[in-house]
Amino acid sequence: MTVGIRLLQQLFLLVILLQLEPRVADSNNMIRCIDEEREALLTFKESLVDESGVLSSWGPEDEKRDRCKWAGVGCSNRTGHVIKLEIQPIDFGSFPLRGTISPALLQLHRLTYLDLSLNNFSGSPIPEFIGSLTKLSYLDLSFAEFEGPIPSHLGNLSALQHLDLSLNHLFSVGNLDWLSHLSSLTYLDLGSNNLSRSTDWLQVVGNLPLLTTLYLYRCHLPPIVPLSLSNLNYSTSLQFLELSENNLTNSIYP
Ligand SMILES: *[C@@H]1O[C@H](CO)[C@@H](O)[C@H](O)[C@H]1NC(C)=O
Ligand SMILES: *[C@@H]1O[C@H](CO)[C@@H](O)[C@H](O)[C@H]1NC(C)=O
Ligand SMILES: *[C@@H]1O[C@H](CO)[C@@H](O)[C@H](O)[C@H]1NC(C)=O
Ligand SMILES: *[C@@H]1O[C@H](CO)[C@@H](O)[C@H](O)[C@H]1NC(C)=O
Ligand SMILES: *[C@@H]1O[C@H](CO)[C@@H](O)[C@H](O)[C@H]1NC(C)=O
Ligand SMILES: *[C@@H]1O[C@H](CO)[C@@H](O)[C@H](O)[C@H]1NC(C)=O
Repeated sequence: MTVGIRLLQQLFLLVILLQLEPRVADSNNMIRCIDEEREALLTFKESLVDESGVLSSWGPEDEKRDRCKWAGVGCSNRTGHVIKLEIQPIDFGSFPLRGTISPALLQLHRLTYLDLSLNNFSGSPIPEFIGSLTKLSYLDLSFAEFEGPIPSHLGNLSALQHLDLSLNHLFSVGNLDWLSHLSSLTYLDLGSNNLSRSTDWLQVVGNLPLLTTLYLYRCHLPPIVPLSLSNLNYSTSLQFLELSENNLTNSIYP
């Protein structure tokens, strides 16, 4: 009898342990993940020059342990992972962040929102690895003193809905093939960069199916040639269009 009860008790314990096991593993994973995200953010901070203390809430100290409370960091309420990074000067006129963007960002596997606009990356190019942050739906790198070619790697960001690279010193090296892969785009601003080499610009933006807002002002756009109109599926969702300060005087507007 007692042996039977003891056996039952042991069985009962075993069942409980078996149920607990996956949760212990899950929470271990979660802790590892949190540490990884914290380290990644601190490495990201190290490659920046922060004269006005925008990132002063970020640190390895015990009282700063919760990375979700750091300025500009957003965590998912559901999963607890870092999903958002929005880092700007404290106010207009304060020193912008300078420096470079660390590839440590790639450790933030759940990042969907990245806004580094209004900082000063001092004429460095947009890093190609940004194209590997494939969960991104929002990317704003505008007015941040980027210079150089627009990396075609951005074409890997197939979930992107909002892309703003405006007001930098960027140029396109050739056609905009990469852009045609971003079929979820609703907002696109490439204004005040140099797209003079992209003769296919109209076909590409005209075939983005969900686009509602398009800014291509001051882009040195090459003229629209009648030939380029033949294989064009006009995006019917478009609501805002800005093409000012281009030399399209001899162009035929579709
Ligand atoms: C999480 O929830 C808070 C309060 O309900 C809300 O203010 C915040 O925007 C949410 N964060 C995200 C990333 O959705
Ligand atoms: C950005 O920083 C560089 C030096 O790194 C400086 O020459 C330039 O004026 C700065 N640009 C702005 C807009 O502050
Ligand atoms: C991203 O795009 C580049 C250039 O378009 C390509 O060479 C590379 O293989 C792509 N990487 C991934 C992970 O898809
Ligand atoms: C635009 O970029 C091309 C190189 O891609 C260059 O030859 C041209 O001079 C640039 N135009 C302007 C106005 O900067
Ligand atoms: C235009 O749309 C039609 C039907 O939706 C499609 O079959 C065709 O491939 C599209 N053409 C281009 C150039 O995207
Ligand atoms: C605009 O382009 C036309 C040729 O298409 C050229 O004759 C004219 O000089 C250009 N205007 C400016 C301001 O660059």
